[in-house]
Amino acid sequence: MTREPDTDADEPTPDDPPADGTPTEPLSDGGTVDDVALDPWGSSTVSDYRKLFEEFGIEQFEAVLEEVPGPHYLMRRGVIFGHRDYRPVARAMREDDPWAALSGFMPTGDPHIGHKMVFDEIVWHQKQGGDAYALIADLEAHSARGLSWATIDEHTRNYILSLLALGFDPEDGDLYRQSTNREVQDLAFELGIEANFSEFQAIYGFDGETDVSHMESVVTQMADILYPQLDEPKPTVIPVGPDQDPHMRFARDLAERMRFFKVTDAFASFELTDTERELVGIAYDHREEFAEDPDRPRCGAAGEWLADYGTSATEARDSAVEKLDNAGKEPLRPRVRFLDRNATDAAFDALIEAIDGEKRRYDAHVDAFDLDHAAAEELAREIEVDNGGYGFVPPSSIYHRFMTGLTGGKMSSSIPASHISLLDDPEEGYDKVKSATTGGRETAEEQRKKGGKADECPVYELYAYLLSGDDDEFAKEVYDECVGGDRLCGGCKEQAAELMEQFLEDHQAKREEWEAKLDELDFEFDSPRKPTSGD
Ligand code: TRP
Ligand code: SF4
Repeated sequence: MTREPDTDADEPTPDDPPADGTPTEPLSDGGTVDDVALDPWGSSTVSDYRKLFEEFGIEQFEAVLEEVPGPHYLMRRGVIFGHRDYRPVARAMREDDPWAALSGFMPTGDPHIGHKMVFDEIVWHQKQGGDAYALIADLEAHSARGLSWATIDEHTRNYILSLLALGFDPEDGDLYRQSTNREVQDLAFELGIEANFSEFQAIYGFDGETDVSHMESVVTQMADILYPQLDEPKPTVIPVGPDQDPHMRFARDLAERMRFFKVTDAFASFELTDTERELVGIAYDHREEFAEDPDRPRCGAAGEWLADYGTSATEARDSAVEKLDNAGKEPLRPRVRFLDRNATDAAFDALIEAIDGEKRRYDAHVDAFDLDHAAAEELAREIEVDNGGYGFVPPSSIYHRFMTGLTGGKMSSSIPASHISLLDDPEEGYDKVKSATTGGRETAEEQRKKGGKADECPVYELYAYLLSGDDDEFAKEVYDECVGGDRLCGGCKEQAAELMEQFLEDHQAKREEWEAKLDELDFEFDSPRKPTSGD
C-alpha cells in the first residue's frame, strides 16, 4: 500500500482547552471530541486528548512530574501531556542507574518547529544523563511514503544538522539511519518472529494490498525502540507524538514476548486469570474462616467459602470455585511462578538452581515460596541475561501535544504558511508569525475589555512551546497580559515575530558550524542504495 508522500508533518489540531479563563499554562487535558484515530501513517488528528487517557490507557504526565528531577519546560507546561510507564526512567534518572532515550524521524520534508520539540526532548534526556539515540527512519520513508533515496538523503542531513544545532552531543550519543544499521535489522528480524499479519491488521489496518516492506518498516521501528537495550536491559523512554502510540503498545508487547520467563503469582498448582487470582487471594485472606488448620488451608474448603462470597455469582467466581474444587485437598499457598516462555533448557535449569528457599519444579514452570514478586522479576531477568537472552524492560514513552498551524487548523508541511521550518529564512519566519491567526478579539476595545483567548491562539502556543524557552515567568506574563486585556495582538505578534527571527538566526548559525564538522561524524549521509523511482 502506498500512501501519499506529503502528509508527514501534518500536525493534528489540539483541542480547545476549557475556556474558563483560568490563567494557566496550556492545559494537559480537556477538549472536544471529533476523532481519536491513532494512525501512524495517516494525517492523524488527535483532537481529544482526554480520550487518549480513557481509551488507550496513556497516563497523565502531571502524575509523574514530581518524580522527575528538574523537569523540562515542555513537561512543566503540560505540552508533554501523557506517558506510558515513565516512572522507571525517572527513577533511574534519580538514582543514577543506566537508562536511555530514543526517538526517530521520518525524513520526508524539512525539519520544522514541531520536530524541534522532539529534538529538545532527546537533548534534555541526554543532559539528564541518559544514553541518547536519534535515528533517521529512512526505511520507513522509503517503503511507507515512497520517497527516493536522493530525497531521503537530503532531508536526513537537515534533520541531523538541526538536532546537533539544538545541542545533541554525538560523542556521547548515537545517531544512525535504519538502512545502514545491521544490528537493528537483525533485531527486527527476530522480533518479526513474534509478530504476525493478523496483528498488523488489527493494529495498523494493514490489508492484502500492504507492501511487505511497509510491514518490515514496522518491525524495524520495534527494533529501533529496543535497540538501546541490546547491551543490557534498561529503562528507555521514547519521546513521540501520540500518533505513535500504537507502535509503543506493540513494542511493549513484543518486548515481553521475547522474554525467557513470565513471572506471575499463584496459589496452587493450577493457573488463574487475573480476576480469578484476585478472588482466590480474598479467600486466602479469610482462611481462618474455613480452614481446619489455618496454617494449611485446602483448596476445596476455599472453594466452598468462595462460592458464597459476594452478592451475586460472576463468571470469574464460578471458574475460580471450580478450579479450587478440582484441586480438593491440595494446600492453598501463595507463591511466585516462573513460567517458561522462551527459555533455553540451560536457562531453565539455572533458574531453578538460583531460586533460594522452597521451590517446586513442574514441566513448564517453577514455583518459589520464599521470594517476593519484585525479587522474582529481578532474578528472572538476571538469569535470562546470563544465559544470552535480551531481558528487555518494556519501553516507556512520553507524548507531546501537536502544535496548531499558524493559519489555524493543522500544522502541515504541505501548507508552508501553517508551519515554520527550521530552514526558513529568519525574515520569512518573522513574516509567518506576523500573519498568523490569533485568539484576539474583533477590536482593540473589545480585547481590552474581555481579554484575548490565549488558549486558542497559535501565537501564544509559539511563546509557550518555543519562544519562552526555559523562562516560565515570561510565558505566564504573556498569558496573563493577554487574557487580562493588557496585551494587544499587534504588539504581541511583533514581539513573537522578532523572537522567532532571532531563534532562526541563531539556529541556522549553529547549523552552519556543524555543517563544517559533519564529515567527522560516524554517519553515512549518502545512501549506498540503488536509485529507485519515487517521491
Ligand atoms: N514512525 C516514526 C515517525 O513516523 C519514526 C520512527 C521510526 C520512530 N523508528 C522510531 C519514532 C523509533 C520513535 C522511535 O515519525
Ligand atoms: Fe494571541 Fe498575543 Fe493576541 Fe493574546 S495578545 S490573542 S497571545 S496574539
